[in-house]
Amino acid sequence: MNTFKPVLTEYIDQQDCHTLPFYKRVGGYTALDKVLKMNPEDVTQEVKDSNLRGRGGAGFPTGVKWGFIPKDSNKPKYLINNADESEPGTFKDRLLMNKAPHQMLEGMVIAAYAIGCHTSFIYIRGEFYKEYKLLEKVVTEAYENNLLGDNILGSNYSLDVVIHRGAGAYICGEETGLIESLEGKRGWPRIKPPFPAIEGYLKSPTIVNNVETLSCLPHIVNRGAGWFKSIGPEKGPGPRLFCISGCVNNPGVFEEPMGVSLKELIFDRAGGIPDGKQLKAVFPGGSSSAILTANEAIDVMMDFEELVEKKSMLGSAGVIVMDETVNMVQACLNIARFYAHESCGQCTPCREGTAWLVKMLTRLVNGGGKPNDIDMLFEITDNIGGLIDFSKGSFGKTICPFGEAVAWPVRSFVEKFKGEFMEYLPQEKVVA
Ligand SMILES: Cc1cc2nc3c(=O)[nH]c(=O)nc-3n(C[C@H](O)[C@H](O)[C@H](O)COP(=O)(O)O)c2cc1C
Ligand code: SF4
Repeated sequence: MNTFKPVLTEYIDQQDCHTLPFYKRVGGYTALDKVLKMNPEDVTQEVKDSNLRGRGGAGFPTGVKWGFIPKDSNKPKYLINNADESEPGTFKDRLLMNKAPHQMLEGMVIAAYAIGCHTSFIYIRGEFYKEYKLLEKVVTEAYENNLLGDNILGSNYSLDVVIHRGAGAYICGEETGLIESLEGKRGWPRIKPPFPAIEGYLKSPTIVNNVETLSCLPHIVNRGAGWFKSIGPEKGPGPRLFCISGCVNNPGVFEEPMGVSLKELIFDRAGGIPDGKQLKAVFPGGSSSAILTANEAIDVMMDFEELVEKKSMLGSAGVIVMDETVNMVQACLNIARFYAHESCGQCTPCREGTAWLVKMLTRLVNGGGKPNDIDMLFEITDNIGGLIDFSKGSFGKTICPFGEAVAWPVRSFVEKFKGEFMEYLPQEKVVA
């Protein structure tokens, strides 16, 4: 039996859960009080010991990332809260901002303190206007209560928080695109290295962390790294918000321990598939993850390592469910269209490749398939983002991981549902 008790979303059903008095009543800002009496290095160590891994997509260990901030640099350090949440199928950060904004803000102050930052940003998706207005109030309230500003809670530590609204580009969720945008430029990702921890915002050391990652921090401080590590798989533990959408009876955000089975998420939490239809395929981690067939999905644990073994990824934990009625060629075209529209256009394989994918798939669904289209689709995806096989793959053909984010899902559609794609080819000329 699943005895897990929600951590991040424990109070979201309660009235006024977004307010400071409510948050304080349930123990809010006690972690901050504790942290301000600790050495910043000890805070980082606690987060390292917890094995918290980023919830934004890449799953990088949070404490390790903080540790990359140079100790000997005189430059200011920056913390950016990535609240751009644009990955299709992902809508958990929005919930956290709406229902538990002070939990996120407390996490920000903890992270900022640990890395020696005195100016921090919330980069919020432009479409989240309601959340932006709420965060404005929350930040003002925090200043008024000495939770932000000078000498926080009577300590020697000071921090300012600035809210910056994005303008609707998916690529500004990628951390270096985001930093460029924050600097007032076009949101074009940067070549790495240097990584932001060394040279980020205004060429200064910068940590970018996701809303959900930051929201975990007050709990790690209050309950300890050991408690956090005991939830789910040791290499990637903790509570996790899973967004379930698509062909399910009860779509929504569900908090579960890392490592929960995908079957439990789809059939228990999200109420299964409507009208008794059969499961066909699932995106386990947003539209940038390779899809799993029903057979692959049914046994899978939602864990960073296991999904890599399955040649997919946990990503943003945006689970998109497709039932037997979904036309996989149409669905693939839909995905390709999104990426072609959102490509920033800086690198040729991505800019040209995504446009080619859309042209080819459109021709295919309109009845103009050519005999070698499937080979061509493989070739284009390989040229954009390398092979899907992590052991053989050649990565890094593009400036940012957007290349892989389009190549892997598209390739997985063609590889795993090749028969459906072949039905669109001229039958007499099909070469098996
Ligand atoms: C194309 C693309 C879009 C991304 N969009 C987001 C996003 O909307 N929100 C987010 O937190 N991370 C996003 N990321 C991941 C960020 O680059 C970065 O890894 C993350 O914010 C780091 O935070 P974390 O370590 O707490 O996960 C995106 C990455 C790519 C390649
Ligand atoms: S991979 Fe695509 S989105 Fe990323 S920098 Fe290159 S063109 Fe832009």
